[in-house]
Amino acid sequence: MTLDEKIGQLTQIGPHFFLHDLNHELTGPVTELGISEEKIYLTGSILGIGNAREMKKIQEKYLAKSRHKIPLLFMADVVHGYETIFPVPLALSTSWDEDILFDSARVAAIEAQTAGINVTFAPMSDLSRDPRWGRVVEGFGEDPLLNEKFTQAMVRGFQNGDISQEGNLASCVKHFAAYGAAEAGRDYNTVDMSKRILHQHYLPGYKAGVDAGAKLMMTAFNVFDGVPATTNSYLLKDVLRNSWQFKGVVISDYASLKETIKHGTSENGYDAAVQGIQAGLDIEMATALYMQNLRKAVEAGDVDVQLIDEAVLRVLMLKKELGLFENPYKGMDLEKEKTLVLSDNHKMRAKKAADASIVLLKNENSILPLKNQKIALIGPYATSQAMMGPWSWHGKPENSRSIQSVLEEKAKVVYTNSAKNSQEIHAADYDKIKTADVIVLALGEAANHSGEAHSRSVIDLPKNQKSLIETFQKLGKPIVLILFNGRPLKLTDVEPQVDAIIEAFFPGTMAAESIVDILMGRVNPSAKLTMSFPRNEGQIPIYYNHLNTGRPFADAKDAYTSHYLDVENEPLYPFGYGLSYAQFNYQNLKLSKNHLKPNEIIVVSVDIKNDSDVAGFEIVQFYIRDHVAKVSRPVKELKQYQKIWFNPKEEKKVTFDVTINDLTYISNALETVYDTGRFSVFVGTNSISCLEAQFQLEKE
Ligand code: BGC
Repeated sequence: MTLDEKIGQLTQIGPHFFLHDLNHELTGPVTELGISEEKIYLTGSILGIGNAREMKKIQEKYLAKSRHKIPLLFMADVVHGYETIFPVPLALSTSWDEDILFDSARVAAIEAQTAGINVTFAPMSDLSRDPRWGRVVEGFGEDPLLNEKFTQAMVRGFQNGDISQEGNLASCVKHFAAYGAAEAGRDYNTVDMSKRILHQHYLPGYKAGVDAGAKLMMTAFNVFDGVPATTNSYLLKDVLRNSWQFKGVVISDYASLKETIKHGTSENGYDAAVQGIQAGLDIEMATALYMQNLRKAVEAGDVDVQLIDEAVLRVLMLKKELGLFENPYKGMDLEKEKTLVLSDNHKMRAKKAADASIVLLKNENSILPLKNQKIALIGPYATSQAMMGPWSWHGKPENSRSIQSVLEEKAKVVYTNSAKNSQEIHAADYDKIKTADVIVLALGEAANHSGEAHSRSVIDLPKNQKSLIETFQKLGKPIVLILFNGRPLKLTDVEPQVDAIIEAFFPGTMAAESIVDILMGRVNPSAKLTMSFPRNEGQIPIYYNHLNTGRPFADAKDAYTSHYLDVENEPLYPFGYGLSYAQFNYQNLKLSKNHLKPNEIIVVSVDIKNDSDVAGFEIVQFYIRDHVAKVSRPVKELKQYQKIWFNPKEEKKVTFDVTINDLTYISNALETVYDTGRFSVFVGTNSISCLEAQFQLEKE
């Protein structure tokens, strides 16, 4: 290969350069590439292909002109489904069920492969403690352990062991690193944290992806320690390549190499390209700084050609592993695209995932499930068929049913209105609404209120919708609120005005079927929050695994403690919270011993009884607190959990084995260590309501 041919492999552009239309998903400005038509035919990969027909057309055109017949690689954001849309990742994470996350990735991969897509830019493993950040919708919440588990599950689901097989995608974990810690929750903003916190909380998710065999890693838009992630050799070399031994391809985010100029760490495109390749960035997405500058940089002696060779080899190896040299159209199938995509089987699996990803936040007087009540169904999501949320570019609302259409089949709906505000409800409407026994409101954020570049400083329900709730409250009828949103919302003022709250997030193609099954009790809700819901924005960042401080708040009379004058410290709904129609009681937390040596195990047991007549899942949570260590440790950290089925009135003894792995932490020297001394174990139904017991960790 010539040097130009090699550099081409390190460049990724959009399909519009081949198709000459701009009808594609773009997440940044379309920049003039500043390269010749001829060089466009040297690029190695494509971002965001539309369908099988387009893929075929581009690959054919490209191969016809290509000297070595090295196929193009097609990458796209297949995040929570292709056409069969699953719940958004934040919702999927509330299932606490790795099988469900795995399966969502399987279905997405099978469908996307029919369009010839080879690589998905998913999962997003950016831990976040800030619900203002719009991209929390794409992640798995605030907990490092869940972030690890669900990253692994999705990587395994997309890749399914062997990416050379049809129906499997290579997975690109993103955005390396710590993108979810953008200051003030504003997308693309500065990230600043200690290396210890980076390693303790933020890196384990990406690392889990690497350990699960992810073939690619995408860099983040933000700086870490003042250096943009895309040219950050600490992150890309020291951590990713050297410490984690990552052998796959590193790709920039959309134009993030060029953006190092705006960050003020590269002087110009030449400088950015040199820094990128030297830091270990293989593929540049959406700009052509490598194409414009790397040849010059090699000739000037600023870049060792070996760096380029290594990067190209990684890209070619990926193409080889994907089986593209044998079949450049692998998986692409115009017929299958029609039959496999959105099949009944896929929809059934999306329904199962949605059932497991809807959180019951409130259920006063057991108003839910509904029995034979007459229902007034109101709100913008009452009649909408679009409940898919961000990153569902291939999902079509017409493939979904509305809550209205499903509910009318299963219950007595006496009135429906898609009103967004109280002005849309007229006097005659009230006559009908008054005939109902219960008012079901389907409200929330629009899909584009969260996601990339969609941060909010106030995370309320839209004002008009709040006035709608106030209006109906005056009627004195029970109100059930169904919420659609891509982030934790501030519900402090809304919560007392309604009797029940169903947090649906964006459940996807089968949203209406799942919501109605939960409303009517055909499905018993089991999901638990993976991000704290703050009482107000001033509490942010708010997360359950915080430190104790030297003056923890205990009593309002004690003024000089860590607290606010105007709001409690605790969130409205804590991490791990979620109700069921069943009633689970925890008793008899016992430890098999009170002293533990590092090579030993303590068995923790608890008796859990379903005191209700309803069967259901309970997610049993197991937390640890390390009371004395060389660095201050969180008041609770999730270490294990079990999702367990209980029949009516069933009682079970649930056990967890505590080993030294549950007790380690990252020291200031960035080593995994443990300290002897006192520990607490907590077992409970959420991060606040737990039983507690203690033990001592002793020397070997
Ligand atoms: C986003 C990535 C995405 C990429 C390609 C970027 O703007 O940050 O998450 O994978 O675009 O669409």
